[in-house]
Amino acid sequence: MAPQSVIWKLDDHTRAKHVILRKYLDAWLPILIREGRSGLLIDGFAGPGEYVGGEIGSPLIMISAYQQHRAASLQRGTVKFLFVELDPKRAAHLRQKLQAHLQYQPLPSTATYEVYTGRFVDAMTSLLASGCRRYDAMFVFIDPFGFSHAPMDVIRNLMACPRCEVLITFMHEEINRFLEADYRTKQQHYDSLFGTTAWQTITLDAPDVQTRQRRLHDLYRQQLLTVAGARYVRSFCMRNSRNTTDYFLFFATKHRRGMKEMKRAMWKVDPTGNFVFSDCTGMGQGFLLHNDDPAILAKEIYDHFRGKRVTVDDIEEFVIADTAFFKYKSSLSLLEEKGKIVVYGSEGRRKGTYSDLTMPVLFS
Ligand SMILES: C[S@@+](CC[C@H](N)C(=O)[O-])C[C@H]1O[C@@H](n2cnc3c(N)ncnc32)[C@H](O)[C@@H]1O
Repeated sequence: MAPQSVIWKLDDHTRAKHVILRKYLDAWLPILIREGRSGLLIDGFAGPGEYVGGEIGSPLIMISAYQQHRAASLQRGTVKFLFVELDPKRAAHLRQKLQAHLQYQPLPSTATYEVYTGRFVDAMTSLLASGCRRYDAMFVFIDPFGFSHAPMDVIRNLMACPRCEVLITFMHEEINRFLEADYRTKQQHYDSLFGTTAWQTITLDAPDVQTRQRRLHDLYRQQLLTVAGARYVRSFCMRNSRNTTDYFLFFATKHRRGMKEMKRAMWKVDPTGNFVFSDCTGMGQGFLLHNDDPAILAKEIYDHFRGKRVTVDDIEEFVIADTAFFKYKSSLSLLEEKGKIVVYGSEGRRKGTYSDLTMPVLFS
């Protein structure tokens, strides 16, 4: 259940989510905030900024990622942080934490922040009305207690902004609550969440709870692709020590590089006894993001392209969009060694090098 107090205890699954957020921003910031470029980082469900044990919350993680980044180029662009929090006491707590932090580590003149007390939907509506095109890039973290209050049409409008990426948490417990809900009272709410009424058929037709959960998950992903207009959408799930899924993180972007960096962040998170991340996009149990045996991806690539002539770029696109992996060169190398592919590189190309994305590759 969602806590009622202003601050609450940090649990393992939030800690894990924070590691992902930080690692992703470490990669995202220097790519997008550069000379003459401006970025907007939104924490749409910001929380109070700290936990009972003194650990920092997501808004301070975002600010620290920016302040501690070594890339000097960051300060040649501009960045704005927008923190949205509905609960006035939590918003006040967050303001206080930010002020205390920035007193000792001020932001440079190229960075600003705002705490908006109110609903995510209202904050986004006013942002979109005032025009988001003044930003070159946006990152939106959508982290409600449940999976609500972030309608699909708002996500679609955000994704229409220049280079906007969204990271959405989707609590598993909340999906279960959804399955048990009295739909007559929630219909409109769920219609707007999914941006379709198709969830109603799923709840009626699915033979069991697991199938229903999976279909709802797949419908949400599909909606991010077709309604919100994302080109790459994957879901990552965090499993706890009892091997049950705590939550899904959906990441949606129009850019291959964004998805590549998000996967890199996911692959970097070491499993602890308490949690492990999997790619949950496909059916089945989810692929653990630690098994980097190149033979696994080599098989996926081969099965997909068998008998075709494609380019290295086509292969990269497939790997980033449709598999749990982001690195593929050792897998191609393996296929080349086994004679399963022929690479038509320029003269003098060393075997096992694939940096030219235009190189044709013939699969046997
Ligand atoms: C899961 S907590 C956020 C935790 C925070 N992102 C972190 O990682 O440290 C969700 C927060 O969203 C706030 N909230 C609930 N409904 C909201 C809404 N419609 N708009 C904005 N914030 C909301 C809650 O008060 C709560 O503080």
